[in-house]
Amino acid sequence: MLKDNHGRTINYLRLAVTDRCNLRCFYCMPEEGNNWLAREELLSYEEMLRLCRLLVKMGIEKIRITGGEPFVRKDIMPFLTELSQIPGLRQLNITTNGVLTAPLVPELKKIGIRSVNLSLDTLDRNRFLAITHRDELDKVLHTLDVLLQHDIEVKLNAVVMEGKNIEDIIPMAELTRDLPVSMRFIEEMPFNGGSHLQTMQWNHVSILDTIKAQFPDIQKLPDPAYSTSMNYKVPGHKGDIGIIAAYTRSFCGTCNRIRITPQGTLKTCLYDGGVLNIKTLLRTHKDDRIVEDALLNALASRALDGHEAEQTRLAGGIHESMAMIGG
Ligand code: 5AD
Ligand code: SF4
Repeated sequence: MLKDNHGRTINYLRLAVTDRCNLRCFYCMPEEGNNWLAREELLSYEEMLRLCRLLVKMGIEKIRITGGEPFVRKDIMPFLTELSQIPGLRQLNITTNGVLTAPLVPELKKIGIRSVNLSLDTLDRNRFLAITHRDELDKVLHTLDVLLQHDIEVKLNAVVMEGKNIEDIIPMAELTRDLPVSMRFIEEMPFNGGSHLQTMQWNHVSILDTIKAQFPDIQKLPDPAYSTSMNYKVPGHKGDIGIIAAYTRSFCGTCNRIRITPQGTLKTCLYDGGVLNIKTLLRTHKDDRIVEDALLNALASRALDGHEAEQTRLAGGIHESMAMIGG
């Protein structure tokens, strides 16, 4: 089992395969002026497969593919197929914005994807356009339909933002009445590539209070091991509701995850500035033992929580987009 210096099990990798995206979510990146990485700056599929095979040998059991938007990277399906066949990998999941996803769902099902996180911040076309700067809500809702038809578990992610989608909190919670989805409301974090100055006005407490006012009989569910969400259910509803204190950071004590950014940097916390350049290691050493030692070293000096990790950053604070981190 892979452990960090605080005794936490590490069994979950979030791998960002591209920094590019076909949406421009306000909370993630500016509408213009994004400096996309050149192809040779990204880890190649071969490099990612080598790294994932090594990490699975070391103790990673679950991989989530993120971005940017994973499905804008060319030839992603053969890569996902190979990844899904790594012996010892128990779960391969994907986070997507759902714009290009619907036609790929049958193949995703075939290679064994059982759970997809779909970004859905609003049910209103105009608000969708205002948040993502693209008029693509219909495609996202169609993807949701197709995922459910294929019996793939769906977690819907909504970042809660004053002035953007507060009117949607109740209608989105209401979705759980008839749909077997997990509707997750997320505190806004500052990783927006400079699109605006983030001042979180909605935290996990105010989000829960708003939902409780409409559904007074909502019940707390037990939170699964390593869960980042606090989970609830309205009695009689098919789906459930999760609240993720992504900015408050109340879940670091059981954090089981590491991240690889699109440019091949290891992050042992979402809030650190990157702790190891894996791309250079992979490109200079054929011997996996050298890469493994470097990974183990990084895990041996992992920050205690997201607040400590944020302090290890060089002065200047947080400027990057979530698309450079892996959502
Ligand atoms: N704050 C909170 N969540 C974010 N995400 C992206 N940027 C942010 C942010 N600034 C999450 C959203 C999105 C997923 C890809 O990453 O949930 O759906
Ligand atoms: Fe794209 Fe996701 Fe960022 Fe939105 S949050 S711009 S869908 S990467």
